[in-house]
Amino acid sequence: MSTFLLKSILSLVLLLPTAVCMFTMFEMFGRGDRKNNIETLRRLHRTAGVFYLTVFAVVTFYCLKFIVVTKTELSVRAAVHGTFSLAVLVLLAVKVLYIRIYKQFYSQAKVFGLLIAFFTFGAVGISAGHYLLVSEFGTDMSYDRLIQYREDAGKRRKTETRKPSVGAAPEAIAGGKNIFEDKCRTCHNTEDTETLVGPGLKGILMRRELPVSKLPATPENIKRQLRRPLGRMPSFDYLTEEEMDNIIAYLNTL
Ligand code: HEC
Repeated sequence: MSTFLLKSILSLVLLLPTAVCMFTMFEMFGRGDRKNNIETLRRLHRTAGVFYLTVFAVVTFYCLKFIVVTKTELSVRAAVHGTFSLAVLVLLAVKVLYIRIYKQFYSQAKVFGLLIAFFTFGAVGISAGHYLLVSEFGTDMSYDRLIQYREDAGKRRKTETRKPSVGAAPEAIAGGKNIFEDKCRTCHNTEDTETLVGPGLKGILMRRELPVSKLPATPENIKRQLRRPLGRMPSFDYLTEEEMDNIIAYLNTL
């Protein structure tokens, strides 16, 4: 099951405690003669409220996580959804304050209850409702793939920017090229990935992993190969840090 389907189902679940809270509120305050025991109604109202908040927190977590990962600008629909959800939080907080502390406002709490129900219905309708429609009630996954792609792209972007940066100054690249021609070229091709003595290094830093060790293709791991090489490659431990950085700046242009 995709995260979106799960999130949509959870959002729909929110409608249940909303309905229970509305029902208990109307029963408590709406009738001239109460049919049900007020204590039972109150307890039911409170339990449903706590359940509502728990589900609300879980759904919010998934929504925020998606925004953090994709760094997406909100669509109009998502923005309205977010506004409704934030309104629910504020209304709920004020309503609890009215009931517990600022009791002079007690009578307004009912209006707040209605508004919370209204905003919940709106928020669920434009998110879960929209999702269930475009996914044809969870049977068509093409929308999920699109969302998943955006999420993956977001994660990829993050790991890429986390790679230590590679120098790009022309002097560094030229210096690196000199060292490379002098010390590495006899064993490594730069035009392709064919093995001469060691593997060809074309596009080495664009790759996901290094050809032999299969470690991630990062400057750090290339330096590790220079200091403590695998296999029959001689060690270049005597090179300075700067010389190694220059070699990497050059390798980055291949
Ligand atoms: C005498 C030949 C030789 C020279 C000179 C040499 N290498 Fe290598 N290099 C190799 C061989 C052989 C391997 C593959 C090691 C293996 O098969 O275990 C290798 C592997 C590598 C790898 C891949 C490491 C991995 O983790 O997959 C890189 C990167 C590399 N060399 C860079 C360099 C650089 C930069 C220089 C120059 C400073 C250099 N090599 C000089 C022979 C050489």
